Amino acid sequence: MNSFLRRITSRVLDPLVPASFGRPGFLLRAPAFDPRDLDVSLAGQRIVITGGTSGIGFAAAQALKRLHAEVIVVGRDPAKGLSAVEALNRVDGAEARFVRCDLSDFRSIDEAVRDLGPKSIDRLVHNASILPDELSRTAEGLEATYASNLVGPLRFQFLIDESAERLRRVVWVSSGGMYAVPLDLRVLRGDVKRFDGVTAYAQTKRAQILVAERMAATFGSRLRSYSMHPGWVDTPSVASSLPRFHALTKAFLRTPEQGADTVIWLTATDAPLESGAFYFDRERQNSELVPGTATSLKTREELFAAIERDAKLPRTFISAS
Ligand SMILES: NC(=O)c1ccc[n+]([C@@H]2O[C@H](COP(=O)([O-])OP(=O)(O)OC[C@H]3O[C@@H](n4cnc5c(N)ncnc54)[C@H](OP(=O)(O)O)[C@@H]3O)[C@@H](O)[C@H]2O)c1
Repeated sequence: MNSFLRRITSRVLDPLVPASFGRPGFLLRAPAFDPRDLDVSLAGQRIVITGGTSGIGFAAAQALKRLHAEVIVVGRDPAKGLSAVEALNRVDGAEARFVRCDLSDFRSIDEAVRDLGPKSIDRLVHNASILPDELSRTAEGLEATYASNLVGPLRFQFLIDESAERLRRVVWVSSGGMYAVPLDLRVLRGDVKRFDGVTAYAQTKRAQILVAERMAATFGSRLRSYSMHPGWVDTPSVASSLPRFHALTKAFLRTPEQGADTVIWLTATDAPLESGAFYFDRERQNSELVPGTATSLKTREELFAAIERDAKLPRTFISAS
């Protein structure tokens, strides 16, 4: 499919969100994907995938291992981690590893970075996320969604970057759920009268896109930074966090491999992509489609400073001051 046809199919599909985000959208767009983009060898590349023990993260880990990367999957549950690694190591190549880490817990993050060891990490996929039903706070007093999806990942990346030779590429797995919400720092940080897990999750997903964009601006040519959304994918977290949505849409949901496609592409390809951009089905997207969801420069600066402060970073990383 040529790029004109691709633009037309995107225009026609995008208003039809269920079809676009679900399996039909992927099946329609996939023939336009250029197979040469993934005709690469990742031999010698160490890639860390948070939440690589299940769903989209695991599908991405499998594909990156097949491209000869040394894959390290991160998650909270060692039993899930070990069975993921066992499955990954059925494919030849550099041995895959599991590193235990709860991204909502600073001690666990610090230990995980020590476990990763002194060898450099080349690429990092920020894929793990939670969508809880109820408000809870971490040992640091942070709302758990904010801690797991945003603050913890920033601390994790900062410490990896400090501990070894510097990262070259990061990919943030966001969600189309962010389209509907404007960033609100009070809601993001759980400062609300009535907690709603879906809103808390969507806030973190919008913030991830802004963080990816800022990393590109801050680090320039030394770090490529991308964000994306995978569409609607049949994974354990969708079945458990959104059971009604899952039951209604199951027939249309993407497979984990289809949901992981753009993650794999952004992590692996040597194609010249624009750092900082937001992607869906290997195509750049506008993340502020819905009127009223644009984020002002002032709010962005407040966001970056707040996450850094909450992550207890010893120095500025992405904020201006
Ligand atoms: N599925 C969809 O339709 C969909 C749609 C839009 C966006 N996404 C995004 O895609 C990403 C992957 O989602 P998924 O559906 O593939 O989920 P999933 O199958 O449930 O996998 C989630 C992974 O994250 C790990 N994890 C969760 N909380 C963690 C924490 N605090 N610290 C470390 N690891 C943690 C889990 O392992 P442990 O339980 O062992 O920790 C698991 O490996 C998420 O960022 C999600 O927001 C998914």
